[in-house]
Amino acid sequence: MSRRSATSSGHPKVCACPSGLDPYRLPNHVAVIMDGNGRWAKARGLPRMVGHRAGVEALKRTLRLCSDWGIGALTAYAFSTENWSRPGDEVNFLMTLFERVLQRELESLEREKVRIRFLGDLEGLPLGLQELISEATELTVRNNGIHFNVCTNYGGRRELVLAAQKLAQRAARGDLDPTLIDENSFEAELLTAGEVDPDLLIRTSGERRISNFLLWQLAYAEIHVTDVCWPDFDEVALTQALFDYQSRCRRFGGLDPIAANHLGS
Ligand code: FPP
Repeated sequence: MSRRSATSSGHPKVCACPSGLDPYRLPNHVAVIMDGNGRWAKARGLPRMVGHRAGVEALKRTLRLCSDWGIGALTAYAFSTENWSRPGDEVNFLMTLFERVLQRELESLEREKVRIRFLGDLEGLPLGLQELISEATELTVRNNGIHFNVCTNYGGRRELVLAAQKLAQRAARGDLDPTLIDENSFEAELLTAGEVDPDLLIRTSGERRISNFLLWQLAYAEIHVTDVCWPDFDEVALTQALFDYQSRCRRFGGLDPIAANHLGS
């Protein structure tokens, strides 16, 4: 099935999604908490690091599918501000993995017109990784394909505190009237400024937590939890998530149209 859709950047694109899904009701923005790499590896008697490597493949797969199906943005939780508390070996492995993957994949991201951004406290990352992130961001900033946001050294509470600080600084300088601060001005200070909010949050490996991810932006996201561990997340699992999403009635605090019609009659 195909549809003509606009990406977040407004670029029209012909897309195909699995039959049975309504191509006109796909989420514009999907966020993923990629959980279960360690458990996936443990279940196979393998080191956790093998799970993280397999997780990279699952992420590449998911990005390609979202892009092919005309989903405008994919935001993935790669490393939280809390993940520093993991053993040093694992943290170092992950940082090196991010660097290697970025180096290896940059050409194909550019070819596929992906616009990649990294969200989080990037100054806390190793210098080599910071340099690659700047290079990838600058190289792809004008791309009109899917928006791919990688949350790295990211914490939702920290993001909110930083936004509040920036507004307070502007107010202290006299550049902003504090009584005029509203949701729009607050949102403009978030790391995701300019991106539509996620419509769908997918969390793998069965945990039912938000884990300090996109606390503001997920206000009205539909949440899909699957028992599949992230390295096994594939086309079938993504399709199930999208069917689940399309089965929901999104009311955004209002009434669903059928109930509203009954009230009016
Ligand atoms: C959570 O599983 C996963 C992570 C903390 C790391 C996720 C990173 C990747 C999938 C690689 C992404 C790569 C790039 C380039 C962005 P876990 O280790 O918490 O699993 P567990 O709960 O089973 O122990």
